[in-house]
Amino acid sequence: MEDFIKLNDGSMMPRLGQGTWYMGEDTRKRADEITSLRFGIELGMTLIDTAEMYGEGLSEELIGEAISDVRRENLFIVSKVYPHNAGRRNIFNSCKKSLDRLGTDYLDMYLLHWRGRVPLSETVACMEELKKEGLIRNWGVSNFDTDDMEELLSVPFGANCRVNQVLYNLGSRGIEYDLLPFMRSNGMATMAYCPMAHDRHSRKKIAENAVVKEISSKYGITPEQLMLAFVLSNEGVCALPKASSPEHVRQNAAAIDIRLTPEDLDMLAVHFPSPKRKMTLDML
Ligand SMILES: NC(=O)c1ccc[n+]([C@@H]2O[C@H](COP(=O)([O-])OP(=O)(O)OC[C@H]3O[C@@H](n4cnc5c(N)ncnc54)[C@H](OP(=O)(O)O)[C@@H]3O)[C@@H](O)[C@H]2O)c1
Repeated sequence: MEDFIKLNDGSMMPRLGQGTWYMGEDTRKRADEITSLRFGIELGMTLIDTAEMYGEGLSEELIGEAISDVRRENLFIVSKVYPHNAGRRNIFNSCKKSLDRLGTDYLDMYLLHWRGRVPLSETVACMEELKKEGLIRNWGVSNFDTDDMEELLSVPFGANCRVNQVLYNLGSRGIEYDLLPFMRSNGMATMAYCPMAHDRHSRKKIAENAVVKEISSKYGITPEQLMLAFVLSNEGVCALPKASSPEHVRQNAAAIDIRLTPEDLDMLAVHFPSPKRKMTLDML
C-alpha cells in the first residue's frame, strides 16, 4: 500500500494524518499536545487536519506553534471554512486568518466544513480564486453525501474538488455502499474522520468484539491499530486519527504498515457488515 494518494492534479496527499479537534482548548494539555503533534510529524504523519471551528482558532494556533520549526514543504496542512463563511463576503478573510494562526502562507487543502446556505457555485468560484492567489493549493468538501457530490459536479469547476472528508470507521461503513465508489469513479480521495469512532464508549464496543480481539492478537497490535488498518485497507482513503498522547501517536503511525488479508476483512464483515443498501451519511 502506498503511503500517499495521488490527487487529480498530480500532487501527493499522505494517507495517514493527525486530527486536532479539541486540541489547543485546554492550556493544561498544551505541552503534551504539541509534543504529540511534533512526534507524529517525525514519525511521518505529516498531514495535519484542522478547522477554523476547532476552538474558534485555538487548534490552528496550537498547530502553528507545533510546526514552527518544520520545513513547510514537508507538511500537508488541511483547514476548513465554516459554511456561513464560505461565500464571497467572508471566505477570503477566513482563509487569511487561518493562515495567520497557522503561521504559514498557504494551505495544502481547504475544505467546506459542511453544506450551508451559500450556493455551491459561489463557494467553488471563491475556492478557485484562493487557488489562483496561491493561498491554497487545492480545495475539497466535508460531510457531503452522494447527492451533494453530484450537485457539486454540476457547478462550474466543481470537478476540481479533490477530497470529501466524511465519518468512516469499522463501526460505521455506510459510505461503502455508494459514496466511496462515487468518489473513486470521479478520481477524488476520501478522508476518513473519526477513524477510531471518536468516543470511548463506541471505541470500546468495537475493541471488545471477539473477532477484533482475535485478529489484533494475531498481529500483536491493539484493537485501535486494527481500526486504523481497516480504514487504510480501502484504496483512495486517508485516515485522520486524533491522538494527544505520544504512545497513541506511536501506535497510530505504525498502523500504516499493517496489512489485513481478505480473510481478516471477511471475518470483520461478519460482525461489522458492509451496507447492502443506501445509508444516511453519519456525521458528528
Ligand atoms: N470534517 C468533520 O466534520 C470532522 C468531524 C469530526 C472529526 N474530524 C477530524 O477528524 C479527526 C479525528 O476524529 P475524532 O478526533 O473525532 O476521533 P478519533 O480520531 O476517531 O478518536 C479520537 C480518540 O481516540 C483516542 N485515540 C487515538 N489514538 C489511539 C490509540 N492508538 N489507542 C487508543 N485510543 C486512541 C484519542 O485519545 P487521546 O487524545 O487521549 O490520545 C481520542 O480520545 C478530528 O480530530 C478532526 O481533525 C472532522
